[in-house]
Amino acid sequence: MTRHRRDICILLAAGATILLSLAGVSTPQELRGTVEKPPAVQIAQAGDPAVLDFPQGTATPSELCGACHKAIYREFSEGFGADLQYGEILYESDQGNKVLGMPAKTSIPSLHAFAGIDPFPAHARAIEEGGMSCDVCHFPQPFDIPDANQAEIAKPQGRSREQEAGGLTCASCHLTPDGKIRGPYDVTAPHATIKDAAIQTAAMCANCHALGKRVVGKQTQTFLEWREDFNKPGLGRQHCQDCHMLRTERKIAEDFEVPVRAVARHLWTGGHSPQRVSSALSMVIVQAEDGGPRLDFHVINVGAGHSVPTGSNRRAVYLRTEVAGPNEEVIASEQWMFAPWFQNRPDDPKYLEQDRNEPNAFAAVQADAQGPHEAPIRAGEERILTWTPPLAAGGYTVRARLVYDLNRYNDPKFTGDQAEIYRTSLAIKIAP
Ligand code: HEC
Ligand code: HEC
Ligand code: HEC
Ligand code: HEC
Ligand code: HEC
Repeated sequence: MTRHRRDICILLAAGATILLSLAGVSTPQELRGTVEKPPAVQIAQAGDPAVLDFPQGTATPSELCGACHKAIYREFSEGFGADLQYGEILYESDQGNKVLGMPAKTSIPSLHAFAGIDPFPAHARAIEEGGMSCDVCHFPQPFDIPDANQAEIAKPQGRSREQEAGGLTCASCHLTPDGKIRGPYDVTAPHATIKDAAIQTAAMCANCHALGKRVVGKQTQTFLEWREDFNKPGLGRQHCQDCHMLRTERKIAEDFEVPVRAVARHLWTGGHSPQRVSSALSMVIVQAEDGGPRLDFHVINVGAGHSVPTGSNRRAVYLRTEVAGPNEEVIASEQWMFAPWFQNRPDDPKYLEQDRNEPNAFAAVQADAQGPHEAPIRAGEERILTWTPPLAAGGYTVRARLVYDLNRYNDPKFTGDQAEIYRTSLAIKIAP
């Protein structure tokens, strides 16, 4: 193995000194230990031409960037400032049930920092895809930000198998194919930078958060849902970053003499954040006719710039309703599931035979076996679900809850991966 070592010392006007040692070793594990303070062999003034390059490409460990970009690294690697949680995932495989869990902490790493070590995709790919490296978005090579108007967005190329482990790094999003660091500013940095306004737009997220053509109701459509349902009709001006990377004023590189800027928090709360999923939907119960038993549940997408639930077909939102009598006894109950389809058509058990001959057999069967369900609720949509419970004359309480589930394919009674996101009730009278 060839090793070359460069020690860099950047002397700042204020007198503070940053020492970094970059060793051109081939595995992230080895490199990890080398962000320390070695003897300096080279002195550079702030403002000198870039001295850092990243021979490891997107396998460059994020710790390295974190030596200078401290607050951003803390958010990325610890989820500092978010309510991110990873309870447990019950994974039903053909080798029996597995519970995958994380130790309980205030927060877990951002899901991007976690993408290479998250046990759930690793298990899914072993069970569903025969170990094939299908999940290239979890360990991508450098890509160009795509044209946001393209009908179909290409997925990134994956890194080679021995370099997968580092997962999604700072460099995955910031390193351009020609070795520069992209960002929103025109700055002087100890590495080559390139100002690219597209990094503050949804196009930056498109490669990994969309796969294939726009098919309403299907999985892996987040960017396309945003473009077609939210942005084009003018429901909102927000790009992904405006909701998922809220900004604060601070320095980008703490130990350098640089101005305070509006910096995006690198947290990306999504399905693993009760705060985030609770902000997505609102609900109203309506007794359709005075004295009559028909109930309308209006589920309204008030908070997401795309469908809810979005992304992977594993995600689901349940609407669970019940009618209770005067002594709290439950008289009737009903449930609906909102979830993305696995394929270009609604999940349906009538395709089970056909699925067994497909390359994605395990995943296709898993989805179709659950049978028909409600499609996700689109940006700005109000979905009305109607239910007429058999009720005699009298007074009742109608209760409704929305529950978010990270994995709809396990036993629905397993709540380790679920979060209640909304609850409401209505007192009704049924006429004789
Ligand atoms: C999933 C993609 C992604 C990853 C991973 C990522 N960033 Fe960013 N980064 C962005 C985007 C998008 C912006 C622009 C945010 C905005 O202002 O809209 C940004 C902005 C920045 C900026 C400029 C300040 C700002 O917010 O405008 C710095 C510095 C930065 N990132 C450093 C890092 C470091 C260090 C890491 C790893 C610890 C990292 N990024 C990981 C997407 C990413
Ligand atoms: C030796 C310190 C150091 C290291 C290591 C470092 N950076 Fe920087 N970086 C800086 C400084 C200083 C700036 C300029 C900050 C300013 O002007 O506000 C900067 C600027 C940036 C910007 C903004 C660029 C723009 O044009 O808007 C991004 C993004 C960024 N760095 C990402 C990274 C990533 C990703 C890594 C690791 C692959 C990394 N940096 C490693 C010091 C460093
Ligand atoms: C290089 C591919 C890539 C890019 C670019 C990317 N993401 Fe992601 N993102 C992922 C992967 C992979 C995961 C899932 C990781 C996991 O759950 O193990 C993820 C997870 C997330 C989550 C959390 C989902 C959850 O399950 O909690 C959010 C929110 C998110 N991304 C938003 C964004 C936004 C906003 C952008 C653009 C600024 C972006 N991502 C850019 C690949 C990417
Ligand atoms: C108006 C605010 C808003 C905008 C704009 C927005 N999101 Fe979201 N996002 C949400 C909310 C609320 C949720 C939680 C509900 C859900 O999972 O659908 C969410 C959830 C997510 C998740 C979690 C999915 C999962 O499986 O855990 C991802 C990934 C995501 N968004 C990516 C994006 C991307 C990429 C864009 C831009 C193309 C974007 N979001 C634009 C508000 C927004
Ligand atoms: C186009 C990019 C892309 C590809 C290709 C991809 N993934 Fe993902 N994956 C994501 C994103 C983005 C998320 C974040 C959640 C979401 O959007 O719902 C994710 C989330 C997941 C999750 C849920 C993780 C969690 O924390 O709950 C699993 C499991 C998963 N992926 C497995 C796979 C498998 C298996 C393959 C190959 C068939 C694959 N992925 C291919 C982008 C991708």
